[in-house]
Amino acid sequence: MKKKTIILGIETSCDETAAAIIKENNTEIPTILSNVVSSQIDVHKEFGGVVPELAARSHIEKIDLIVKKAINDSGVNIKEIDAISVTAGPGLVVCISVGLNFAKSLALSLNKPFIAVNHLEGHALSPKLITKLKFPYLLLLISGGHTQYLTVKKFGIYQRLGTTIDDALGEAFDKTAKMLGIEFPGGPYLEKFAEKGDPNRFNLPKPILNKGGCNLSFAGLKTAVLKISKIIKTKQDKYDLAASFQKTVEEILYKKTKNAFKEFREKSSNDKATFVIAGGVAANKKIRQMLTNLSFKKNFKPIFPPINLCGDNAAMIAVVGLEKYKKKKFDNLDYAAKPRWQLDENAVFLKGSGVKL
Ligand code: KG4
Ligand code: ZN
Repeated sequence: MKKKTIILGIETSCDETAAAIIKENNTEIPTILSNVVSSQIDVHKEFGGVVPELAARSHIEKIDLIVKKAINDSGVNIKEIDAISVTAGPGLVVCISVGLNFAKSLALSLNKPFIAVNHLEGHALSPKLITKLKFPYLLLLISGGHTQYLTVKKFGIYQRLGTTIDDALGEAFDKTAKMLGIEFPGGPYLEKFAEKGDPNRFNLPKPILNKGGCNLSFAGLKTAVLKISKIIKTKQDKYDLAASFQKTVEEILYKKTKNAFKEFREKSSNDKATFVIAGGVAANKKIRQMLTNLSFKKNFKPIFPPINLCGDNAAMIAVVGLEKYKKKKFDNLDYAAKPRWQLDENAVFLKGSGVKL
């Protein structure tokens, strides 16, 4: 029987040092043999956000231990690993370089193929760790650095349908949380605040809701939250503002997702299509519920990664590594970090003043 491929994945593009080992399986759904994620919350807490140089230093201190732990936890011998895959972008260049250089050295010393992976492609394919994925599918990527609707035509072929023209959704969650005095990283806790509040208390703006197709904007929403956060006084006021923010985000995603469904159908013409929602914000329970209901209503099959695979991890990097390995898509050891690597490389840059929608 043919040996099943074993891939090591490494991720250091932001503030998580992660390594994972996955193994190919007859079911098309690879088995996660190990998945180690070490977060840097304590390093960045006092600064209220990620400090790139501190993040890079922390990656350097931990990377060998994390990779060693992933190998030990997996029970495989290091020599059984068939290829080393690593995030090469997008992200913080000082952070990406740590994982990239480590992976190159390991590939060289083990004499195994080296595979550079787009972090966003990791998120896009993360549901492959729990289910089969049929192309083409519609993807909503909602993370700390990106918010995009894309058609995934086949492996490696992406067409962007819409993007944020300013802040990413995760960033809006994090900044709103900070304004409400929630400790870094606040995004995941904002929904807990929201559960205790009145979502109809504050009327917040929904920028470009009725124009720009599938493009989104969150900067005006953030500014409105900032203004209100300066005048509210009680804990209940904060809960109400969190709930109003959560509700406004849901309304924006509801409308923009309906636009994306329409555009996807016009271009891809299949009846019951798959809708993958991935990235850190996909862990938000109310967003999951709302998008699930909308998908069923519009005859889409919603697929979310499990909560522990929504945020940054290396198992999703190994999944892309495995797909590239099957196609013998290996990279050279002089591969440079790509801090602005887009999934749809033909998509125009849509940020800043003067953007035409
Ligand atoms: O995908 P990810 O781990 O890192 C990036 O690639 O950016 O996403 C992190 C983002 C953060 O902005 C975090 O606040 C947000 O995902 N996030 C959430 C939740 N959990 C994580 N946002 C809203 N609700 C959550 N439950
Ligand atoms: Zn991410």
